[in-house]
Amino acid sequence: KNIVILISGRGSNMQAIVDAAIPGAHIAAVIANRADAPGLAWASERGIATRTVDHKAYDSREAFDTALAAVIDQFSPHLVVLAGFMRILTADFTRHYAGRMLNIHPSLLPAFTGLHTHRRAIEAGCKLAGCTVHFVTAELDHGPIVMQAAVPILNEDTEDSLSARVLREEHRLYPEAVRAFVEDRLRIQDLRVFVAE
Ligand code: GRF
Repeated sequence: KNIVILISGRGSNMQAIVDAAIPGAHIAAVIANRADAPGLAWASERGIATRTVDHKAYDSREAFDTALAAVIDQFSPHLVVLAGFMRILTADFTRHYAGRMLNIHPSLLPAFTGLHTHRRAIEAGCKLAGCTVHFVTAELDHGPIVMQAAVPILNEDTEDSLSARVLREEHRLYPEAVRAFVEDRLRIQDLRVFVAE
């Protein structure tokens, strides 16, 4: 299955998925919305096709998303993986990839959508934090949940220490979810996703 991964920055989740070397998964391209995203160099050093679609070159979200989809679709993806891709996507774009686009979010959704999830979880006095892989729908951070992992929040935690603990789980969880998709083990029913063994 062809997989296109979208990043905006370091791309450590992208690296975890590439390094997992999932049988049947072909990483067709890594695409960033900024030419200086460090993950792009990492991917191209490994012989993966890379592209940049710079959001600043477009004067609307619609124009950017149309250009981005055109580049993505050159690689005939079965799956599009958002890995730290920091752009809000239009409803048309999410519909085009309905059922074949995943995101990872660093909270236990539906709690803490949006930014600064770790700081907000600590401030709320939560005892658990975590990450969620979900299918992408038009509403930000709201699509059907595929898999989650939880970690404790410790008394002495800072935003940095907690985000490092969650990130380790992201690197385990995201390849596992991609593997389940590639193996055709994910079933969406209403708003729930069932993962077959
Ligand atoms: C991750 O914490 C991911 O959950 C969030 O942005 C961060 C991206 O990190 N959406 P990386 O670029 O994968 O290293």
